[in-house]
Amino acid sequence: MNDLFSVENKIVVITGGTRGIGNAIANEFAKRNSIVFILDKLVPKKNKITNISHIKCDITNNTQIHNACKNILKKNKKIHVLINNAGITIPNNTKDDYSLKNWEKTLTVNLTGAFICAQTIGKIMKKQKDGSIINITSINAEVGFPNNPAYVASKGGLKMLTKSLAKDYGKYGIRVNNLGPGYIQTDMTKKSYKNKKTRNAREKQTLLGKWGNVSDLIGPCIFLASDSSKYITGQDIYVDGGWLANGLIE
Ligand code: NAI
Repeated sequence: MNDLFSVENKIVVITGGTRGIGNAIANEFAKRNSIVFILDKLVPKKNKITNISHIKCDITNNTQIHNACKNILKKNKKIHVLINNAGITIPNNTKDDYSLKNWEKTLTVNLTGAFICAQTIGKIMKKQKDGSIINITSINAEVGFPNNPAYVASKGGLKMLTKSLAKDYGKYGIRVNNLGPGYIQTDMTKKSYKNKKTRNAREKQTLLGKWGNVSDLIGPCIFLASDSSKYITGQDIYVDGGWLANGLIE
């Protein structure tokens, strides 16, 4: 039977896939016989999965991204899927104004990094006239959160970068979509998860009454990468347990 959700033999590049959400996604694509390349600043000591290759790379460095893609194309003729997942958050825990340094750092990774990857790999996808780019945004792309203007602005910017690229790349058969997680238990959120008060507050905001798990992102990601979403581009899918749909917290 033809599997509408098949990602078999697809060449998949995922940034920030060494841990957290990206790692869960990378492992599942590998399980489904994709050929996966993880571009991350961190690389594991041992690579346990044969069809996952780790490339040490800073996504804010144009040259490193170009070299990584060159290496991927040496053995593989195409790149079918790019998942722009790498991201950072630097909340302001002081009474001082948010620093320009942290603003620039956040924007450079979360927005410029994704832009560099999308442009570099977009060029390859244009030639092959096929591709799916998935940008990992956040509920922060839609609503304001305190003490982290850089993160909120970066995710809002990424959301609109997606629309802009979807417009420019549509004629080449390249689809570009956003996948926005709510609160998911990872290293990034461990501080608010460990603290009972902040953990409960976040839980209460969702309609499902719980935090998300990294595995919750896998299905929607497979969907956006596969032919099952072949007429979908420029869209936002939120995996947030109903956070954004909640009108009243009782
Ligand atoms: P994480 O902090 O656990 O993992 C992030 C990964 O990105 C790490 O492996 C890190 O080494 C890599 N990375 C960071 N900067 C990099 C750079 N300059 N170059 C290459 N790699 C870099 O984060 P998590 O929680 O897995 O988040 C993944 C994505 O999901 C991020 O974009 C984040 O903003 C987004 N997200 C996460 C949420 C959550 O609740 N965990 C909620 C909403 C969005």
